[in-house]
Amino acid sequence: MRLTVIGTGYLGAVHAACMAEIGHEVLGVDVDEAKIAALAEGQAPFYEPGFPEVLTRNLENGRLRFSTSLADAAAFGDVHFICVGTPQLPGSDAADLRHVDAVVEGLGPHLRAGALVVGKSTVPVGTASRLAARLREFGDVQLAWNPEFLREGFAVEDTLRPDRLVVGSTDPRSEQTLRHVYATMLNDLTPWVGTDLATAELVKVAANSFLATKISFINAMAEICEATGGDVTTLARAIGYDTRIGERFLRAGVGFGGGCLPKDIRAFRARAAELGCDESVRFLADVDAINLRRRVKVVQLVREAVGGSLADRSVAVLGATFKPDSDDVRDSPALAVAAALHGEGARVTVHDPRGLDNARAARPELDYSPGAEKACEGADVVVHLTEWPEYLELDPAELADVVAAPVLVEGRHTIDLAAWRSAGWEVHALGRP
Ligand code: UDX
Repeated sequence: MRLTVIGTGYLGAVHAACMAEIGHEVLGVDVDEAKIAALAEGQAPFYEPGFPEVLTRNLENGRLRFSTSLADAAAFGDVHFICVGTPQLPGSDAADLRHVDAVVEGLGPHLRAGALVVGKSTVPVGTASRLAARLREFGDVQLAWNPEFLREGFAVEDTLRPDRLVVGSTDPRSEQTLRHVYATMLNDLTPWVGTDLATAELVKVAANSFLATKISFINAMAEICEATGGDVTTLARAIGYDTRIGERFLRAGVGFGGGCLPKDIRAFRARAAELGCDESVRFLADVDAINLRRRVKVVQLVREAVGGSLADRSVAVLGATFKPDSDDVRDSPALAVAAALHGEGARVTVHDPRGLDNARAARPELDYSPGAEKACEGADVVVHLTEWPEYLELDPAELADVVAAPVLVEGRHTIDLAAWRSAGWEVHALGRP
């Protein structure tokens, strides 16, 4: 089939390359000329494991092309995926829909009769039916909603082997067309959920709200552990053995960040308020607040670890991205904590294996180091905030020789605290004695 994918960020670029990978002819479209030129040359605009290989392979076999023109997109195919961003509106909790609207307005006048537009972007419920009505004004054009659940760091794997496919539509033919698009993925392992537009939009925000709630639940338990001397990592393991609860997404620490969970729960609350359902999702305000309190708590632990004042103290921060295997620093807890420490007068040096360029652009006031050991030289305290596997390789005995004081604050619970303690480190950890 001939498909277009409009918006080539983390979601769209991976979707475009993976649709080519399963055999479709794909045109990726974006307004960003530099990004399109880079993608057409086989250069990935972000770090995502496995993506460069899929990109290059499908450029070479000719199934994947790129353009900046929506008119080209309309002429190229009859199924058009909208994958543009819906960031948080500045000064508001609501989602900014200007990019989604711009695609519909730009594509609409050029669409051929019978075209299908498929929304993948995360939007406030009700957006799809509004866009469907707008598209009908351009002619015989259908709209379906097909939310995307990929995780950064696993984007290629999640796109090629999704754990479910959800399609909202108003016309059985739209659903049938998408069954053809995804035919090679439809097997016993990938359930298909066909539904209406509103439910499809809601599945995405409900899933992200649930995941965020699970993380904030365990981080709330971390607060109780801090007041009682309990250990949240043991607590999480013990409740996770109950298969009704499950061990996943119960990792306590400095909390969730990234381009999805934080802004999606805020936008969901904003939309629910418009619908008169504020009470239904009021708990998401607590989920957000617990999450942000963890950042404050790490700063407090670091402040206490250096004797009560951060002024002129040297702090090494390990990790800048919101999670490992990504270069994404959007709403990153690690970077927010680093900036807060700097704000209290500390000299902060940040290390990250992949995210330094993005971190430097977002927080130019901080110092950055290309090596983890180097970042720790002369530090009064080392703060571990993104659980990159390479930090597990650090030798605590060797590191103790380069720091000014062997003091560790653990914000992600992957470091072997006993090993660091026996190498002479004083250790402080969120939610643990
Ligand atoms: C998320 C959803 O998982 C995905 O389905 C959706 O499509 C987009 O949003 P992503 O933002 O890539 O994906 O990251 P995810 O792996 O979900 O992690 C989000 C944040 O939660 C990270 O900052 C991570 O460190 C944090 N997290 C995750 C925890 O703090 N504890 C956990 O147990 C799990």
